[in-house]
Amino acid sequence: MVASSPAVARSSTSAFKALNQGGRLEICSWQDNYLLMYPEDHAYNPLDDIDQILVEEAAIKSRLKELGQEINQAYEGREVAVIAIINGAIIFVADLIRELNIPLQLDCIRISSYRDDTNAQTSEVIDKIRLDLKGLDVLIIDDILDSGNTLAHVTKLFRAMEPASLKTCVLLDKKTTRSVDFEADFVGFRIPDQFVVGYGLDFAERYRQLPCIGVLRPELQNPPEWS
Ligand code: IMP
Ligand code: MG
Repeated sequence: MVASSPAVARSSTSAFKALNQGGRLEICSWQDNYLLMYPEDHAYNPLDDIDQILVEEAAIKSRLKELGQEINQAYEGREVAVIAIINGAIIFVADLIRELNIPLQLDCIRISSYRDDTNAQTSEVIDKIRLDLKGLDVLIIDDILDSGNTLAHVTKLFRAMEPASLKTCVLLDKKTTRSVDFEADFVGFRIPDQFVVGYGLDFAERYRQLPCIGVLRPELQNPPEWS
């Protein structure tokens, strides 16, 4: 059995619960749980679930250095207010801001996107920012530009706060037909229209820790047990 497959992880979690309920494991740390899910010689490797790598870790690292330079030049002599759209942008933003040699403030906004009754994509602010953007040079950072709804929504919200300037940066720009007309000011990579995970991008909150960006194995794209 391949210990890294979700099926094994799930059944082992049940085993863990059974043990716990049986009273044999009264106090249990996260690490204990993890060990039960992925026993000894079967280290979990999220790469096992990837069908095709689209952007290698080394390519991300070198592109981030270039992007950092582009942003440093664009904001030379000014301070920038970086707003990360989380969770997806967490890893990208953490690495990108360490390539910046300009003063910056960091804040996060949490957005959830879903399909409404008419099947149109809508996004909703779950956690607001704390910074007052009035008069600031704002750079919004997201993991991926797909339909354009999220960034169109967030830029509209922030424009109402009267920043001095407002730009956007995405790690990935997906070749799709946008539902709204939107282009980012700074783009890491342009990718084909495929659902990707890794380097912060998730499927059902999984795979964010992958160091590269890839396409999930087809049989893992909609396992009913994950819903
Ligand atoms: P939008 O369609 O441009 O509004 O993108 C909304 C959000 O959907 C992004 O911020 C991502 O979190 C998520 N998303 C879009 N495409 C992908 C993908 O291929 N993989 C993982 N998340 C995605
Ligand atoms: Mg997401």
